[in-house]
Amino acid sequence: MIPVLAIDGPSGSGKGAVGMAVAERLGWHYLDSGAVYRALGLAAGWQGIACDDEAKLRDLAAGLDLRFVAADGGEPAVFANGRECGALLRSPETANAASRLAALGSVREALLDRQRAARSAPGLVADGRDMGSYVFPDAFLKVFLTASAEVRAQRRYDQLKAKGFGVTLSQLIQEIRERDERDARRAVAPLKPAEDAVVLDSSALGLQEVIDRVLAMAKSRQ
Ligand code: C5P
Repeated sequence: MIPVLAIDGPSGSGKGAVGMAVAERLGWHYLDSGAVYRALGLAAGWQGIACDDEAKLRDLAAGLDLRFVAADGGEPAVFANGRECGALLRSPETANAASRLAALGSVREALLDRQRAARSAPGLVADGRDMGSYVFPDAFLKVFLTASAEVRAQRRYDQLKAKGFGVTLSQLIQEIRERDERDARRAVAPLKPAEDAVVLDSSALGLQEVIDRVLAMAKSRQ
């Protein structure tokens, strides 16, 4: 069986940066499942589909032509139905749209196979909310990264500022709290650690320290 290392956690926990770095070190593939939900949110917006129109969203999800095109040394370019998502993929508005449609069971179901299809040799690092608990329950290592809402908001603030978005810290703390609550409370695949996940609080840890800890755990289990 092709090994999967699942990294889940809330927004700003650092799971994206950690997941990408760990995948690179291991020479494995990397699945950014949040980008799948975000791209669907954007594509829905382009087609004028509301974030609570479950039937239309499910059909859009089932037929979505989603492509990740590797870019030199940075995040891949993401295309949804042939249109480039660009910087909008990471905007707070897109994050909110993603979080709203991610609460719909049939939409999640429609995205399941394409996430599982990312499992390919020699291995996969899967980053998201339900990678260890639902999408890849047989992952050999499940890490659940957390950090306080303030620390996560500060990280998101730094990232979004660097990308040119006009945001304020207090607005981000508020949005992160709202999104956490929606993600944790939803009936399907709520944000919570898998029973066999290792919970790692990164509030007081630097990025490299978290990467090293995850790599050490992966090594000790292989
Ligand atoms: O991780 P990221 O911030 O890109 O995810 C955006 C939103 O997509 C999350 O707030 C969450 O609602 C949803 N999501 C999800 N399940 C995943 C990945 C993301 O519900 N596996």
